[in-house]
Amino acid sequence: MASIQETRRVVVAIDGPGGAGKSTVAKRLADRLGFLYIDTGAMYRAVALWARRQGISWDNVQALEEMAKAAAIGLESNPLKVTLNGEDVTLAIREPEISQGASKVSAIGGVRRALVDKQRELARQASVVMEGRDIGTVVFPDADVKIFLDAAPEVRATRRVKELEQKTPPAPPKERVLAELEERDQRDRGRAESPLVQAPDAVLLDSSGLTIEEVEEAILKLVRERTTNGREHQRG
Ligand code: DC
Repeated sequence: MASIQETRRVVVAIDGPGGAGKSTVAKRLADRLGFLYIDTGAMYRAVALWARRQGISWDNVQALEEMAKAAAIGLESNPLKVTLNGEDVTLAIREPEISQGASKVSAIGGVRRALVDKQRELARQASVVMEGRDIGTVVFPDADVKIFLDAAPEVRATRRVKELEQKTPPAPPKERVLAELEERDQRDRGRAESPLVQAPDAVLLDSSGLTIEEVEEAILKLVRERTTNGREHQRG
């Protein structure tokens, strides 16, 4: 007889602005629950990187839509790895120019539709923790658990500097990181296509004064309340 785990997929949707802690917490939750971790921002970043390398401008809508459809984007969890057409682009997609580019290409309807199709396809295979900007509103409006993870801009900028320091040192000054985050937030919240907005039924979590462990526990509690098949792996 098929187990519940095999017959019923679970979707945990985590949306929010950059630097709120989505990636860290989504990855930890996925490991703990035995779910797939899907970083949808990495997909927009991969399209932006490909466009930049091909010299395609951010306003060439048609070419960008074609690229989003054609891109073979691979997301691996352990260790974290993003591939674009077979090439490891894990670090290249984190560069500041690509962050801004991803925010620009993600405003294009055709790019979004192509990537949303890929995101839904990934969740057909397994239960997922998926993070992004529109997961609870557009990609999976009927997700089992929806979180809107936010934090004060200052806190988000400090976290982003730390992350850049680790991934692609040296990190730019905090003021610049803050200005870029705010510019991106404004674009992501203000666009016509699937803007960054809290779904009416999402739980708002402000991570400003919380540790990663506290955010993780709060979300895990919701997953346990709302699903019966959140298979949990104990950390050794
Ligand atoms: O999460 P991130 O910073 O890696 O995302 C990069 C950009 O991609 C972000 O500025 C907005 C866009 N994005 C989006 O529009 N929808 C998503 N589901 C994920 C990211």
